[in-house]
Amino acid sequence: MRYLSFFALLFAALLVSCAKDKKAANAIASPDGKIVVQFGLNEEGRPWYTCSYASAIVIDTSYIGGFEFKDHPGFDKGFALLKSEASSAKETWDMPWGEYKTVLDHHNAMKFFLETEDKRQLNVIFKVFNDGIGFRYELPAQNNVDSLLVLRETTEFNLTGDHQAWWQPGDWDIYEHLYRATRFSEIDAIQYRNHPNLNATYIPFNAVNTPVTLKTAEGIYLSFHEANLTNYADMTLLVDKEGLKFSSGLVGSERTGGKAWITLPFQTPWRTIQLAPRAGDLIESTLVLNLNEPNKLGDVTSYFTPMKYVGIWWEMHIGKSTWDMEGSQDMTTYTQGKKSGARHGATTENAMKYIDFAAENGIRGLLVEGWNTGWDKWINTGDREGVFDFMTPYPDYDFDAVMAYAKEKGVEVIMHHETSSAPRTYEKQMEEAYDFMKKHGMNSVKTGYVGKIIPAGEYHHGQWMVRHYQHVIDKAAEKQIAINAHEPIKDTGLRRTYPNFIAREGLRGQEFNAWASDGGNPPSHIPTVAFTRMLSGPIDFTPGVFNIKFDEYKKENQVNTTLAQQLALYVVLYSPIQMVCDLPEHYRLPNGEMHPMFQFIRDAGVDWNTTKVLDGEVGDYVVIARQERGTDAWFVGGVTGDRERSQEISFSFLPKGKKFKATFYRDGPDAHWNDNPLDYRIDTAAVDHNSIMAVRMAPGGGFAISLFPVSQ
Ligand code: NOJ
Ligand code: CA
Repeated sequence: MRYLSFFALLFAALLVSCAKDKKAANAIASPDGKIVVQFGLNEEGRPWYTCSYASAIVIDTSYIGGFEFKDHPGFDKGFALLKSEASSAKETWDMPWGEYKTVLDHHNAMKFFLETEDKRQLNVIFKVFNDGIGFRYELPAQNNVDSLLVLRETTEFNLTGDHQAWWQPGDWDIYEHLYRATRFSEIDAIQYRNHPNLNATYIPFNAVNTPVTLKTAEGIYLSFHEANLTNYADMTLLVDKEGLKFSSGLVGSERTGGKAWITLPFQTPWRTIQLAPRAGDLIESTLVLNLNEPNKLGDVTSYFTPMKYVGIWWEMHIGKSTWDMEGSQDMTTYTQGKKSGARHGATTENAMKYIDFAAENGIRGLLVEGWNTGWDKWINTGDREGVFDFMTPYPDYDFDAVMAYAKEKGVEVIMHHETSSAPRTYEKQMEEAYDFMKKHGMNSVKTGYVGKIIPAGEYHHGQWMVRHYQHVIDKAAEKQIAINAHEPIKDTGLRRTYPNFIAREGLRGQEFNAWASDGGNPPSHIPTVAFTRMLSGPIDFTPGVFNIKFDEYKKENQVNTTLAQQLALYVVLYSPIQMVCDLPEHYRLPNGEMHPMFQFIRDAGVDWNTTKVLDGEVGDYVVIARQERGTDAWFVGGVTGDRERSQEISFSFLPKGKKFKATFYRDGPDAHWNDNPLDYRIDTAAVDHNSIMAVRMAPGGGFAISLFPVSQ
């Protein structure tokens, strides 16, 4: 329900009257009054804003609204404020799947209408929520201009100190860098230009990818990102180390020589700042979702059901088998020089083995990679255009037989389309490929974009690719197909509008543990990801490795967590699809019985009514409780970096007056991510709303708790 309260109207009226005075600042406060944005024009008519949290400035005077265009006058200064319009909203909306069933959109907004002396117009819109702010630019239709090539956008975030920062390099091609924890003034992205395991990396400036999270000396958390990125370029943030300032650095294109073609009227994505006194509030925040438009697709749950899935996948990453069946090429990046041939993973027989495993263990989905022809050429071929087709199975994969067997066993097969970053080939085949999927009862596809984009001069995060990823979503929605994109464009909350965009990679996932030459993801990775990458949206991280060291396949690699932490990831990392990624045989004990810790994976929910971050500190540890939709069960996950921790848990999140059976899947007394990752304990207790308990997490460890109501 949209409403304007009497006070909001009064407030707005006051602000409009202030706006008549050019020099005066205009204030917009969050509904709880804690966050206040001031907007104004300086003596030269340059737009600026500040932002304060609990009366303390957190973003000092920052200039915004600057644009440079090719062959057209840009925007910078010389603006007059014509008028401003205030509005407010307090309304709820439902997520078809998600971390919450219902989301509250409660904000105050203000739109500023600006005009230059030569009558060119630019509007700036602010929305201020209790969990942060968003602002965007609107370029209204104007005389004699219909389209413009943006060469530069000026949006500044002027910080008030040399804050602690958790950042990764501002890469135009990939988000698969490790996060670094440094002071703002020590951010140095350029040194990460040539990572041996990233085969599509372009880092032109000292900039960071978003979300990037900071903590002030006073203990306020800020995370910078954007919302509703469509038909524009991804915003990296350029680092001004001396000035302690971020400013927008849009991803470019060498083919256009600019950043983005825009057609007027045009609205940019929202530039967002999440603000919180507690690290966990960043995770609970719904700011980015609230800055997106409502669902345009209707009921996607008629074809997409949140699920766990197994896959012919990890076995290729650890080098047991291969994607291609030809054995004609070394796929150095992934299988480290081993030839294939007899070791093709996607065979009919192997797929049936996974189907049996899924069916026996209540797992709904199966992903099969390497089922289609083209894998012998996918990485090392210069011209990857036309290498893959998405309809022709390898001869040792009887597509129809696998589909029939899956159907008989009640397992849903997930399609895999590795585009090898040849989006034009994919766009040509898309229609037919999606029809082929639907004909065979397939409702979701994992897409991939390994390698440099063809045509050269375009980047994964540039406007051309933003449009491609959106085209895939639109086309898939038309066919009632859900998309899980790897090597994607980052999530900016678009799942609200297009809920068939179910998940993405867009980070260093589990796969890096299988083959990265830098030792894989360190123990601090997940407690950092939870407060950075996860703020943008669902992560297809692919948890669930039980054979932590996998020495029989690769001595030099391992997963850098305990077994218990692998279980915690099902709760800590949010995604409506969660892989159960290890090989079926690794979930069994030597005597053939299922590993007792596997019970948690069977039980864990994947779709939530609500989410509560119980505790956490960026880069250090995090504990999250989630309540499953459609049941009364709760699940809790906790992870720690390489510091051991005794974690007190208050069960006050449980409803009053109900008893629950809690099963703790936790680190054993000798557990350690490297020395003894498999040491575990399982115990149970009766708990209720008043219970408080402590759980120890080993270095690189964690715990998972299932909570089922006990009938009284
Ligand atoms: C990279 C993806 O992240 C991974 O999951 C996939 O197996 C390979 N590409 C092959 O498509
Ligand atoms: Ca990847």
